[in-house]
Amino acid sequence: MSDIFVNMAKKKYINKNSRGLMMNGKPKYYITTPIYYPSAKLHIGHTYCTSIADSMARFKRLDGYDVMFLTGSDEHGQKIEEKAEEAGVTPIEYVDNIVALFKQLWRELNISNDDFIRTTEERHSKVVQMLFQRAYDRGDIYLGKYEGWYCIPDETFWPENKLTEDHVCPDCGRPLKRISEDAYFFRMSKYADRWMKFIEENPDFIQPASRRNEMIQFVKSGLEDLCVSRTSFTWGIPVPFDSKHVVYVWFDALVNYVTAAGIIDNPEKFDEFWPADVHLVGKEIVRFHAIIWPIMLMSLGIELPKKIYGHGWLIVDGEKMSKSKGNVVDPIPLLQEFGSDAIRYYLLNDIQLGQDGNFSRERLINRINSDLSNDLGNLLHRSLSMVEKYRNGFISKGDPTLNESVYEASTEIERHAEETLLAFRRDMNEWKINDALKAVWTYVRSLNKYIDVTMPWNLAKEDSQRQVLDAVLYHLCEGMRFISLMVEPVIPIAAEKIWEQLGLKDFKEKTYADLSWGGLEEGTKVNKGDPIFPRIELDKEVTEPEKEKVEVMKKETVPQITIDDFFKTELRIAEILTAEKVEKSKKLIHMTVSLGEETRSVVSGIADYYEPSELIGKHVIFVSNLKPAKLMGIESQGMILAASKDGKLVVPFVDMPAGAKVK
Ligand code: ME8
Repeated sequence: MSDIFVNMAKKKYINKNSRGLMMNGKPKYYITTPIYYPSAKLHIGHTYCTSIADSMARFKRLDGYDVMFLTGSDEHGQKIEEKAEEAGVTPIEYVDNIVALFKQLWRELNISNDDFIRTTEERHSKVVQMLFQRAYDRGDIYLGKYEGWYCIPDETFWPENKLTEDHVCPDCGRPLKRISEDAYFFRMSKYADRWMKFIEENPDFIQPASRRNEMIQFVKSGLEDLCVSRTSFTWGIPVPFDSKHVVYVWFDALVNYVTAAGIIDNPEKFDEFWPADVHLVGKEIVRFHAIIWPIMLMSLGIELPKKIYGHGWLIVDGEKMSKSKGNVVDPIPLLQEFGSDAIRYYLLNDIQLGQDGNFSRERLINRINSDLSNDLGNLLHRSLSMVEKYRNGFISKGDPTLNESVYEASTEIERHAEETLLAFRRDMNEWKINDALKAVWTYVRSLNKYIDVTMPWNLAKEDSQRQVLDAVLYHLCEGMRFISLMVEPVIPIAAEKIWEQLGLKDFKEKTYADLSWGGLEEGTKVNKGDPIFPRIELDKEVTEPEKEKVEVMKKETVPQITIDDFFKTELRIAEILTAEKVEKSKKLIHMTVSLGEETRSVVSGIADYYEPSELIGKHVIFVSNLKPAKLMGIESQGMILAASKDGKLVVPFVDMPAGAKVK
């Protein structure tokens, strides 16, 4: 066993920079999701986490990497043992059933994981035992007695100094259980300084930066040794040298990342893929991944992963989903109703990565209708219909230079395609998935505009414009070839349909290296199909005004006013400094804004249309002499102007300094 570590230590020196120049010449990329507890059905929040990881894995494959994307199930622990008992089955029967549902969900969501690890597999338990033994042999695990507080649903020990008097779990708010038993402890405290030094030297290790600060505070407030074994139940991996104990479920679970990379079973693979490039996790388990896991690895002499990325929660009605709150959104019926692409697009486009985001069926339908159906679906359908109508389905390059305005517009489309690809790749590599998608949709909209400007139906009427019309149709199709590969990480089914409707082949073998303008060949025959995203008719449930009581201004019929009346309203430019959702409200965002010399508090009913984070830094038009009013108990000292029509609402952002008067 120790050979593995001897080899690893040697490799570190001999092979330090060789990662990325492996057998097939491709750089490696290893990305993981958490392994989920099979204690209940998965909900839309888990779907969010896995969709992010899947999009990143797909993106990296298209960007030329050899990717290993791992997900799985975390099957041991007291909680599972209790659930199985309640259900009257053995723990393994209990988890087998639920894990089958996980796998079905990932299939339906089109998740492209390369491996699915179960902690009950033999390949895993032998690694856990080996590593536990190694930490023990190194003197980092010792026998003691645990007396303290435990959260069974989260499988988490809580030291007294992190608790308030009511002894509820600081993460989930549920009551803690007082336990007292013999236990092995892991010497976390010994590594606190080394951890702090590592974090200082690797400022990007924990992302986003706000989570990094939380972790530093946590360690600064005192790191206690961690209890890493239990004796009061048996559903776990036995401690190799003391079979009365099972390994604490988090020690067991975290090890999954090295098991699947092949630490015992496939050392060559392990060499190539470890350290992992990123562990993507929800914000409440960043602590385990950013503190406990690195310290375990330090003790074991294994390299640390490169990044821990903590995403926010998907919340419903302002609260994290949970069975006890009765606000769980089941992804399966949503997937059946709207399809996986639509759900994935909504989650990745609408929720600002790293922040909490509200799940809203209404916004989901809005996104499908506006972005997917109206912008993208129509672009494809309109363009291919014209290729069929005017050219029997065949694409030719044509010659735009014969028409000056078309030539200008076409050159812009070419330039914009290359520029969008660059921006998209840059943003994805920086984990700015929302921005990456925005760049692509700006391009989609510019192609729609290109149709409106060049008016192919007019060009088709004149023989002298034949080559010009060909060029316009070519630009549309070539632009969509770019779009197809750019949207693949998020909407893989639609991406392949676009590719095929363009008459192209071998979609699965393509990468971004295949995208340079002009790659679409002359003579390609398109296959127009059905619209890729049919519109969703808004049903009553969705269009009905929200039931929540928000004190909004009453509509009044507006009489004509004189200019003097108008000047009674003071309009100023305001810069949004902070923005956050109002607790217990679906619609309201509370902001502080700067009017240059003074700061105001304002509450605005725009949460259905904007994420708080996308508002920060924006300059808006502000009614600054409105009588203050209270909305959901918060004083609003003015109003932000917005325009709304047919269920859409837009806040005009302006490029003027805060405080400027609007007249
Ligand atoms: O924590 N929104 O498993 P888990 C976004 N087994 N993400 C959410 C969410 C929500 N509403 N609810 C849950 C565990 N998640 C451990 C992991 S890894 C070695 C062991 C996310 O099933 C949550 O943040 O309780 C976490 O990242 C993941 O689902 C798994 O949660």
